[in-house]
Amino acid sequence: MSLLILGIESSCDETGVALVRAVDGAPLPTLLSHALHSQIEMHQAYGGVVPELASRDHIRRVLPLTKAVLKQAGEELSAVDVVAYTRGPGLAGALLVGAGVACALGAALDKPVLGVHHLEGHLLSPFLSSDPPEFPFVALLVSGGHTQLMRVEGVGRYEILGETIDDAAGEAFDKSAKLMGLGYPGGPALSRLAEQGDAKAFKLPRPLLHSGDLDFSFAGLKTAVLTQARKLGGELEARKEDLAASTQAAIVEVLVRKTLAALQQSGLSRVVVAGGVGANRLLRAQLDAACAARRVRVHYPELHLCTDNGAMIAMAAAMRLQSGRQQANRDYAFDVKPRWPLDAIAA
Ligand code: KG4
Ligand code: ZN
Repeated sequence: MSLLILGIESSCDETGVALVRAVDGAPLPTLLSHALHSQIEMHQAYGGVVPELASRDHIRRVLPLTKAVLKQAGEELSAVDVVAYTRGPGLAGALLVGAGVACALGAALDKPVLGVHHLEGHLLSPFLSSDPPEFPFVALLVSGGHTQLMRVEGVGRYEILGETIDDAAGEAFDKSAKLMGLGYPGGPALSRLAEQGDAKAFKLPRPLLHSGDLDFSFAGLKTAVLTQARKLGGELEARKEDLAASTQAAIVEVLVRKTLAALQQSGLSRVVVAGGVGANRLLRAQLDAACAARRVRVHYPELHLCTDNGAMIAMAAAMRLQSGRQQANRDYAFDVKPRWPLDAIAA
């Protein structure tokens, strides 16, 4: 049996649509086409995501992007077997656009629909890469809203080993960048600037590094960056590169050390990194080096699939269906879950 799955992502500031084909007996579903519209430019003027504007833009983009992926793949809308969408977590209004359009398409085509957990999409996105992982593995999920270490035994089999008790890693990047006047989204801007700076220039805290557990905390680091920026005053402009490099080094060191501790604790020898911060070059370099020395394999999503996209939503739906963990259904009375812990969908 072969299933053509349309995936729609609209949880935050990116509209993503993709087509994936899942064939019985094939090891993994394959990505046929995907298209993305980023709202970054639109939100930049406001220094962050404006939820109402995000929802309105998703409405404008979702159908043209759907047409584009069908055309790219040479498929007709009527050939779609399942319509998948991000059900949560995310911005309520933004989620409602994707869910509404997906369920309307499903109802019009008389095809089943499936609501996907956004973080499961990130978590399974490395299966779209040319070097897909094998279960089981330790997952480091680092996005704008979440920072978690997980033991992953299979699709839907997730055990949270540790997570942030306050800000997420992406938030630490974004908020520090904002303090330095780097605009939105801060992560990529801060890491670009950091490449020209001295990571040892400022002593910044490594929160919970020696806590003995696998939890994270980044709120204190952000406050330390603020204190340092205030101390610098008029000198900040000239020292921005150094402050950016020192901030990035602090965040990355904590992420790498805790991931190594999770490997040791779980006895696993494979790591999967997912979520927007997974695009960070220093994180990749340091994790690769530390894991190579321990004969641990590290897998990442393709760089362009680290941040939000439709491919990971179609892929997660395909893998859930293939694993028999979930069935798509014709209940079009959709709801969304702006807050939705990942372990709520774990078996
Ligand atoms: O996964 P994602 O697209 O959205 C959420 O689900 O939250 O992650 C976005 C986050 C933002 O905080 C952004 O600043 C961060 O990922 N990010 C980066 C980099 N690229 C994106 N952080 C550090 N370095 C990067 N290269
Ligand atoms: Zn995301």
